[in-house]
Amino acid sequence: MKAAVLHEIGSVPRYEDFPDPVAGEGEVIIDVKAVAVENVDKAIATGTHYASGQFLTELPAIPAFDGVGALPDGTLVGFGNPRRPYGALAEKTVVAAAAYVPIPEGIDPAVATVLATAITGMSITTAAGFVPGETVLIQGATGVAGRLAVQVARLLGAGRIVATGRDDDQLRDVRALGADTVINTAVGDDALARAFTEAKGEGYDVVLDYLWGRPTEILLRTLVPESFAFPKSTRLIQVGEAAGRGLTLTAESLRTSGVEIYGAAKGLDAETMGRMYGQIVEWTRSGELTFDLATIPLSDIETAWQRTDLRGKRLVVLP
Ligand SMILES: NC(=O)c1ccc[n+]([C@@H]2O[C@H](COP(=O)([O-])OP(=O)(O)OC[C@H]3O[C@@H](n4cnc5c(N)ncnc54)[C@H](OP(=O)(O)O)[C@@H]3O)[C@@H](O)[C@H]2O)c1
Repeated sequence: MKAAVLHEIGSVPRYEDFPDPVAGEGEVIIDVKAVAVENVDKAIATGTHYASGQFLTELPAIPAFDGVGALPDGTLVGFGNPRRPYGALAEKTVVAAAAYVPIPEGIDPAVATVLATAITGMSITTAAGFVPGETVLIQGATGVAGRLAVQVARLLGAGRIVATGRDDDQLRDVRALGADTVINTAVGDDALARAFTEAKGEGYDVVLDYLWGRPTEILLRTLVPESFAFPKSTRLIQVGEAAGRGLTLTAESLRTSGVEIYGAAKGLDAETMGRMYGQIVEWTRSGELTFDLATIPLSDIETAWQRTDLRGKRLVVLP
């Protein structure tokens, strides 16, 4: 079969022949239909992700660890966690018989690869107890996950949405998707701090953070009151690290700001995930939730893997 093959950690996967997978006991062969290439797949392949060792146990290997494909009887499923060294970026892969869920009828395989990303937007509720009317700040709103999150926050009834990005044109799109106020983070530290302060109104109730790094460090500083005051609570949900894996959290920005920090996985279990997925499917079918895809054949993986021009579009490979 043809596959995207990674020969060395940190290299670019190549379109090559790879032995067909053979199903062992309790396994099933998937005929792969669509695979979204996300930052996490690249981070695993470059060895910078904490789970790289778990996924790249041997080389050569096929990257990407979930996708959409057909079972031998033709049923369309979302699958995850192929047996190593198989991954999703191939014509076929092999997974444990329990490692797939049916894709709802009428949902295109390429579209289905993006729906799980929208669940991160729902973590304002599951991780942070969001209630309608609250003000939500979305850090990294010009990305694929951020654009979905702006729409999800609007659909869940956010009172005000503040959204950040690095490019004014992209931020105009984000405004059209439902953000009330936008902030360009590509300015000096003091100007960014002023922008966060000016946009916060009565304060940010929930921050959905796809960035971490410098923009979030500056945000946290601006939440420290200038004089002694009882702090207002701001629930920050850590979802991504597009701007950096670390930041400096000063003692006072935790002690006095009212900031509570949660991981996006808080409050998730299989039943909640299933319910949220159902809601995302419903919004997608009704056209209330929209997103852009850039689809490519598997044979283009080498150039597509290195693309930096996608700006809010998800790269989806159709093997
Ligand atoms: N935990 C989960 O389940 C989950 C799911 C999906 C995503 N994520 C994570 O969330 C993050 C965003 O994912 P995505 O798929 O939306 O990625 P994406 O489409 O590449 O978007 C990245 C976002 O971060 C911004 N950005 C990138 N580098 C930056 C920097 N140095 N300084 C400031 N802003 C920067 C981008 O701005 P521009 O538009 O200007 O490039 C864009 O807004 C990633 O870390 C991803 O791994 C997590």
